[in-house]
Amino acid sequence: MKKEVCVITGGGSGMGLAAAKYMPKEKIILVTGRTLAKLERAVTELQEAGYEAYAKTCDTSVRSQVQELAAYAAELGEIKNVIHAAGLSPAMAVPEKLLRVNALGTVYINQEFSKYMKAGSVIVDISSNSAYMIPGFLANKKTFTLADTDEDLFLKKCLKLPKMLKDDYKSSGLAYGLSKKFVIWYAAKCAFDYGSKGIRVCSLSPGLIATDMGNLEAKEGGSLLETAAEKRMGTPEELGFAIASVADERNGYLAGVDVLVDGGSTIGRNYR
Ligand SMILES: NC(=O)c1ccc[n+]([C@@H]2O[C@H](COP(=O)([O-])OP(=O)(O)OC[C@H]3O[C@@H](n4cnc5c(N)ncnc54)[C@H](OP(=O)(O)O)[C@@H]3O)[C@@H](O)[C@H]2O)c1
Repeated sequence: MKKEVCVITGGGSGMGLAAAKYMPKEKIILVTGRTLAKLERAVTELQEAGYEAYAKTCDTSVRSQVQELAAYAAELGEIKNVIHAAGLSPAMAVPEKLLRVNALGTVYINQEFSKYMKAGSVIVDISSNSAYMIPGFLANKKTFTLADTDEDLFLKKCLKLPKMLKDDYKSSGLAYGLSKKFVIWYAAKCAFDYGSKGIRVCSLSPGLIATDMGNLEAKEGGSLLETAAEKRMGTPEELGFAIASVADERNGYLAGVDVLVDGGSTIGRNYR
């Protein structure tokens, strides 16, 4: 019998790597990202912890690389879990890059992996609580639908408002929020598209978490803590556990929803 494979994009660091450590030891773990050295360090850590683990580089914003990754994973065994944690934050990239990596990358991952996945498997797409700050009227479903049919027009429409903002960080912040709003919408869409095949799809939205990315965004994102019930940043381990729980087969009835793991900061904005 084929061994089960858990693929983790962005698995070389942060909450992706933390999630790997909560997966059952019987599964093969495949970590991926753009930086080989980082992935190799993660594989060593996982092997020392008793996992059979592999690394393969992939830029998830390039469909052909995602296709190669999915084919490689399918050769290792039966793809049972895809945890898509790869992403960039506002301080890391310009608006177009953020949309290409966070939004279109999610399209490529879900589409290419679902071709190999069978009943009882799961995709967890990592979004962000920033998505909840984007007003509903900006999350235009007609625009989002274009991601499957006309990528250039999708990017043009999503970039219209961010491009109007003079402040670079605010412009990237809006593009980031939109890209993550898209992730929630797209995961829900895929839950229905793939549901009949028995592939479960969810998204999970972290709040401010003390990873490399979170620490980089801590100054701007720190204001989120004011409305949180937990007055601190989340830890990668807390998020790793939450992600692994959503990906667990025993959570088989959790589908098409976003799981908000943000210490209460989003609900806190409206609660008082
Ligand atoms: N930390 C937070 O406060 C926070 C809050 C809300 C949401 N999130 C989301 O949580 C996810 C995980 O982030 P993290 O906090 O764990 O940060 P992290 O440690 O920086 O992890 C992100 C990973 O994504 C990989 N990556 C970036 N661009 C990629 C690309 N084009 N193709 C493949 N891999 C790529 C990075 O590796 P390479 O650079 O080597 O490719 C990195 O290992 C992200 O999607 C992020 O947006 C984080």
